Amino acid sequence: KRLGPLFIGLSFMLSACGRADLSTLKPQGTVAAGQYDLMKLAISIMIVVMLIVFSIAAYVYIKFRRKPEHKEAPKQVEGNFKLEVLWTAIPLVLVLVLAVPTIQKVFAFGEDYSADKNAIKVKVSSHLFWWEFSYPDYGITTAQDLIIPANKKISLELKTMDVLHSFWVPSLAGKTDTNTDGTVNKTWIEATQEGVYLGKCAELCGPSHAFMEFKVKSVSQESFDLWVASMKEPVQTIEDPAIAEVFKNQCLSCHAIGEQGGSVGPNLTGIGSRESVASILLNSEGSGQLKGSKPVKDNLIEWLTDPQAVKPGNKMPSPKEDLGLTDNEIKAIAEYLANSKVSY
Ligand code: CUA
Repeated sequence: KRLGPLFIGLSFMLSACGRADLSTLKPQGTVAAGQYDLMKLAISIMIVVMLIVFSIAAYVYIKFRRKPEHKEAPKQVEGNFKLEVLWTAIPLVLVLVLAVPTIQKVFAFGEDYSADKNAIKVKVSSHLFWWEFSYPDYGITTAQDLIIPANKKISLELKTMDVLHSFWVPSLAGKTDTNTDGTVNKTWIEATQEGVYLGKCAELCGPSHAFMEFKVKSVSQESFDLWVASMKEPVQTIEDPAIAEVFKNQCLSCHAIGEQGGSVGPNLTGIGSRESVASILLNSEGSGQLKGSKPVKDNLIEWLTDPQAVKPGNKMPSPKEDLGLTDNEIKAIAEYLANSKVSY
């Protein structure tokens, strides 16, 4: 009966691990694969040690258990030099077997590729509760979907714009914190296949910490080049002058689209092609197992109608309550944004 709560707890933990796109046990990238190899090595050693120790213990308990003819306590022994040397030496060897590849990988995964001509540089900035990705070599800034070519090293420089967050894409690499003391953390990822991988903020940062997701989209080199070119094309403007005016005054003071706008909120260029709106309203236009059921336009309307209901504690003013937008204006802006697409 006492084990009941334990099993319930364990089943909850295991069900959380069952979300395939957040599993570290199905690595899709070089770093994650190396980390998985280390896990397998450590667990194999543990299993072998456990089997040997438990077998010896079981053997001793059975063989030397107290029998009816045992009237007195057995002979007491103290100290055994050979055994002591043996059980000091074996763990030492095991620790070395673990330490050598671990140290090798720690240095390999901490390698700085920011000066590497073949690597793609991305600056990652974390915000309450969204992610910004800028590509200094291409002059591109985007948010929420990190687009990368497969089989290429992506050198990441990470910093936060407010509180402590942590960048984590379980299928591609372990966590890297974005620090509040101004230091820039560097890491790298390399997706070995094309696909969409879920990223999470892995540091409790506020009411919508659990919703601070992002996607890594690994595409072919041709698709990546197409995306870069497409992100730099001039964006179309809103035809209706009244809506254009509202959009310019109310939205572009914080957000950018194409060449114009601010940088307080997420850059909106190509938002119609993203996997999600506000990271958790998944779009039906999205790809893979992370595909949602609603089109991007409907998700944008839901978000713009009541951002706090979708993502509590987020920093965006409510378009309706704080900025005085009407339902029709929200619909028109959602439609315009949904049509802001980029190609892959
Ligand atoms: Cu950002 Cu948790």
